Amino acid sequence: MISISDITKFCKEKGFVYQNSDIYSPLAGFWDFGPLGTELKNNIKSNFWKTFVQSRDDVIGIDGSIITDKKVWEASGHVDSFVDYMIICKKCKNKVRADQLIEDKLKVDVNGASIEKIKEIIKKNNLRCPRCAGKFESLQEFNLMFKTQVGPIDGATTYLRPETAQLIFINFKLAAENSRKKLPFGIAQIGKAFRNEISPRDFLFRSREFEQMEIEFFTKPDQINKCPLINEIKNKKVNLLTAEMQNKNKLHEEVKAENLLKLTSQWHAYWVVKFYNWFTDLGVNKENLRLREHKKSELAHYALACFDIEYRFPFGWKEIHGSADRTQFDIQQHMKLSKRDLTLFEEDTKQRIIPYVAAEPSQGVERAFLTFIFDAYTEDKKRGNIVLKLHPKLAPIKVAIFPLVKNKPRLVKQAKDIYNELKDDFTCVYEETSSIGRRYARNDEIGTLLGCTIDFDSLKDKSVTLRNRDTTQQIRVPIKKLKEVVRKIINQEEKFEKLGKKVK
Ligand code: GAP
Repeated sequence: MISISDITKFCKEKGFVYQNSDIYSPLAGFWDFGPLGTELKNNIKSNFWKTFVQSRDDVIGIDGSIITDKKVWEASGHVDSFVDYMIICKKCKNKVRADQLIEDKLKVDVNGASIEKIKEIIKKNNLRCPRCAGKFESLQEFNLMFKTQVGPIDGATTYLRPETAQLIFINFKLAAENSRKKLPFGIAQIGKAFRNEISPRDFLFRSREFEQMEIEFFTKPDQINKCPLINEIKNKKVNLLTAEMQNKNKLHEEVKAENLLKLTSQWHAYWVVKFYNWFTDLGVNKENLRLREHKKSELAHYALACFDIEYRFPFGWKEIHGSADRTQFDIQQHMKLSKRDLTLFEEDTKQRIIPYVAAEPSQGVERAFLTFIFDAYTEDKKRGNIVLKLHPKLAPIKVAIFPLVKNKPRLVKQAKDIYNELKDDFTCVYEETSSIGRRYARNDEIGTLLGCTIDFDSLKDKSVTLRNRDTTQQIRVPIKKLKEVVRKIINQEEKFEKLGKKVK
């Protein structure tokens, strides 16, 4: 598998992701998306929105602001508890995240360990600064929220949001009542989140500014085990690593998703598997995905149970998605601090109830982005180039349009007409420079789904050659059917070779 530094280089060279402020002295943990990265990121987000909001009648969307009243973060527990342990080198003043240092040096997972335990491990193993081998000063807690001030001179201090979730909690009652939603229902949101990570690293994986796609799924407190959709997921196969297996140092096993029902509620299991399948449906190799149950010691202060979806990166199995059973914690907290009634009125029982968050699927956009890129990256020895085998729906460019040669005005005109015809429906590029083989290779490397070549026969038979990125198979398609054929390929409605006359 390609290393994280090589994928960083690849993403820069091909126009996916750039280091922010590269022309000055870049701040660690901030990234900018280039032309192709922006397309890919937008495709990921719109696929999430289509799948989990627009195609469902039990989920609605909101778009909350990044800066909110400080009380929101007091109520949620972030002011007191959103901390990591930081240790500073006496000599070079390097700031290191203590749990990551232990994980890197000793290969042990200290997720959820107390400050005393972490101190003890560092002392016992005489861990030194990874940069200069100096000794450390004492361990301290570091709150990860970025502070900011609202308004000029002595403005109110607050924070940039460290998660999008709280905006859902503070707006859920209005959003539900406006859309006349009855429990169970979910509210989704996509937006930026900010965490002042002590040591951002692994490219996009741990950054200080990133995006989240989150859903809070609300049920009646006594209905978390009454999911009418549970049969959709029961028989799906998942790679599962339970807390018990981790305690016994066992590896994950492939099991039926119904096994999750021994570990958590029906609604929670349903959402965890829905997102696992979102990745597999978008082409991620099953071998590289697993579900990991949180051990009791690592559960966040608000969670009763939690599962991560993990991806096998070159730097290990890492969380790309978290899904917690958040109980009634957040709404109760906001009711307490705001002194507002955030209960919902239930017509059938004539009671006011505090909804229960049975599942909180929380997906980082950048971690999904990295997962899709890593999984798609293929070195094709026979072709002698990289092929980025992104799912058709995610491919940043769907069709590259090539006149066979650039100095024949009739070919060029035909190709440009086709480009103009397709570009309002699909992301397209028009390319006429270098040999056709070089143009194919260049587009394989950036994941362009189809090559469309206009040759001399096209002027006579009014057809073009479509080339499949993954197989290099070619078919001849009449120009008047091109749009329909491209659409069928993107939606995987029919096999490529069935959509035109095979070219030998
Ligand atoms: N509302 C719950 C929540 O925020 P989390 O596990 O802290 O839970 C959810 O974050 C997801 O956000 C993670 O699974 C990951 O995909 C993404 N994420 C968290 N911190 C990140 C960071 N520093 N850089 C990039 N993505 C991050």
